[in-house]
Amino acid sequence: MNLEDIKKAAKIVSENKVVAIPTETVYGLAANIFSKKAVAAIYKIKNRPLNNPLIVHIKDIKELPKYTKNIPEKAQKLADKFWPGPLTLVLPKAANVPDYITSNKDTVAIRVPSHKITLALLHELEFPLAAPSANPSNAVSATSYKHVRDYFGNKIPYILDGGECSKGLESTIIGFENNKPILYRLGAIAIEEIEKTIGKIDVKKTNIQNPEAPGMFLKHYSPKTPLYLVENTNEFLNKTIYKNIAYLGFNLPNQNKKIKESFLLSTEQNFEIAAANLYKTLIKIDTLHFDAIVADYFPNENLGKSINDRLIRASYKN
Ligand code: TXA
Ligand code: MG
Repeated sequence: MNLEDIKKAAKIVSENKVVAIPTETVYGLAANIFSKKAVAAIYKIKNRPLNNPLIVHIKDIKELPKYTKNIPEKAQKLADKFWPGPLTLVLPKAANVPDYITSNKDTVAIRVPSHKITLALLHELEFPLAAPSANPSNAVSATSYKHVRDYFGNKIPYILDGGECSKGLESTIIGFENNKPILYRLGAIAIEEIEKTIGKIDVKKTNIQNPEAPGMFLKHYSPKTPLYLVENTNEFLNKTIYKNIAYLGFNLPNQNKKIKESFLLSTEQNFEIAAANLYKTLIKIDTLHFDAIVADYFPNENLGKSINDRLIRASYKN
């Protein structure tokens, strides 16, 4: 960990400019939550709709009551168990959280990240950092310094290098409605793990174009190469007119001359490894000029559910 780099990032965000930060999930584009100007810059750089609120990153669980209120018991339990880590809680916001962070909602999304470099940065600061994922709106999220540089190199003053993100999928988001926990976004903590702590939880039904169902625009995480998520690879390959296809999944598909290269996310069929490889593989495939990607569904359990969620969104065609 390079202290100089952290000090430099601290100086730049303190001047109310945007800095890219590493987290254990994906890289973020970070700004002082109290700088309207810096937060506006994030929206502009990402081309993000203003009605899509940001996550507030705090340095310690002790800061939770500073920025939220009426914390449900189950929220506290989850924070105690999973912070620092890839869990975001959506809670009633305290008065000091500016409306421009939350798109005028009366709730705020908040988490303590576990990446050592970003935790060290937060400890240098007197304010939390608002940070969405460091990708242009709808594009695949960045999981390395290089991804961020390729997306935004000339648009932001500094990228704090924290190596490759260990989880490779965004945080799991849990909100509370009528005092009941509800899953807003599948993510780096499997829902089964959440349920071990607070019991069965419902899943928010997503409404395709309405970000009121939080951040759940159906089209999202999209590579430029058209992606087809299929139940039966052979059937797809027999019918398709594409001749230059990349395969993405867990298992080597049957030989087929239309598949020019196979990308296995984890040869040991390990969900954590597959999750960590997903975005970087999609970004890599995009540089290789295939006509299309054909992907298999993952087993629909644990992180397989989160991976399938991202593949479904990546495959969505307008
Ligand atoms: O892992 C992560 O969560 C990464 C890292 C950088 O922390 N951040 C991230 O941010 O994924 P973003 O902006 O790409 O996704 C945040 C999601 C959005 O879908 C947004 O709609 C939702 O959180 N969200 C934010 N505030 C909310 C609120 N008050 N109510 C409901 N959803 C909210
Ligand atoms: Mg995002």
